[in-house]
Amino acid sequence: MSFQPTFAIEPFRIKSVEPLGITTLEQRRTVLERAGLNTFLIRAEEVLIDLLTDSGTGAMSAAQWSAMMLGDESYAGSRSFFKFEAQVKRITRFRHMLPTHQGRSAENILFGSMQRPGSIIPSNSHFDTTRANIELQGMEACDLLVEEGKHPMLEHPFKGNLDVVKLDSLITEVGVSHIPMVMITVTNNAGGGQPVSMANLREVSRICRSHKIPFFIDACRFAENAMFIKLREGGYQDKTPLEIAQEMFSYADGCTMSAKKDGLVNIGGFLAMNDQDLYERCRNRMVPIEGFPTYGGLAGYDMEALAVGLQEVLDESYLRYRLENIEYLGKKFLAAGVPIVRPTGGHAVFIDAGALLPHIPWQQFPGTALCAYLYEISGIRSCEIGSVLFASKNRDGSVTPAPNELLRLAIPRRVYTHSHLDYVAEAVAYAAEHKKKIRGVAFTYEPPVLRHFMARFKWVES
Ligand code: F0G
Repeated sequence: MSFQPTFAIEPFRIKSVEPLGITTLEQRRTVLERAGLNTFLIRAEEVLIDLLTDSGTGAMSAAQWSAMMLGDESYAGSRSFFKFEAQVKRITRFRHMLPTHQGRSAENILFGSMQRPGSIIPSNSHFDTTRANIELQGMEACDLLVEEGKHPMLEHPFKGNLDVVKLDSLITEVGVSHIPMVMITVTNNAGGGQPVSMANLREVSRICRSHKIPFFIDACRFAENAMFIKLREGGYQDKTPLEIAQEMFSYADGCTMSAKKDGLVNIGGFLAMNDQDLYERCRNRMVPIEGFPTYGGLAGYDMEALAVGLQEVLDESYLRYRLENIEYLGKKFLAAGVPIVRPTGGHAVFIDAGALLPHIPWQQFPGTALCAYLYEISGIRSCEIGSVLFASKNRDGSVTPAPNELLRLAIPRRVYTHSHLDYVAEAVAYAAEHKKKIRGVAFTYEPPVLRHFMARFKWVES
């Protein structure tokens, strides 16, 4: 037997370091009070370990930094654009690509080019910016996640799948003319970073093609999804992540991408598709919003970094480390008796705050309460994915809570070491041990839209 370590080491070494924000308990209490218990309102320098998001927070490689010096800043026809486009086409094989400054602008351009108010766009789960961009165009965003995906404790390899039976019935019920597009988000961020299987992508594609409905992938975390397929789906063990990604995209007609995730860059995105007519409409809409089609809101050096990032992200040893790292943290939480969404996803560990803190009703936001408490004791920043974010107000004034009250600890790519994760695990175990001390929270300021960003809270009196 050859030597087999019990965990995946970081497949890189560190060349440039940045100090962490070290604070005292007293300072953090003051910070929390100033921020109205909302971690979005804390200054980054007051954070020790920042797990607010994995978006745009990754570390670039030496190869990416050096590629940036080759950036061609020409307004039109920049050499950097063609390098970037070649990488996108190598992976997706879509005919057309438009660069954008991030994912949501790709969404805005795509849905804004449709002119189909009153129609419905089904998905496994739309991310909140996707939903907002669909609704802004007078369309309805509809989530058709499989049942397994709705139960945090349930073990299933592909909890991000779209329910094809529900998709079929929706098409029959409302008619093809009311469904201008079907989308699938890989991995499913809103549902715990859970992957979508190749079989599911294939089946959704078959249904869409039989009705001539365009099928798009929200591809932010396509490489993590490809690796899950390699590890969990029969027949893919011997394929490379690139081959798997190519097959995933072969079932779709286009994609939106926030390159701030699996592009391994701090800013960037794109919109890609096969259809010539849709491409021309998107390109026309893009010019006044993002910029000329060969830079679309990005500098030449951004496109250089992205061209390299798209190659590095498909490196198998990186992806193996990435998924094992998240799993490692999840296992530590489980060992400490902390309920999490299982199995762990590709970019984050989601704690089931509702289950951990049964003494806090959803109206007092257990996810936000745990988030604030965790920052107070440890300086770790995370974010709620529960009823502050997802509760919906009904026409009769009643409120439907989010399906689950979760706390997301998103792990930036190539940034934190094993010892940082051990620190997070110890802090979370401490929070769980002292959970009786954690009180619910109440709004002191509730913004009318996207309330999780700017809301302010106070602790509820016990
Ligand atoms: N789609 C998904 C699945 C996402 O997770 C995000 C962003 C977007 C689209 C929008 O991309 O930020 O580049 O405009 N998710 C971040 C997060 C913000 O924290 O999960 P963007």
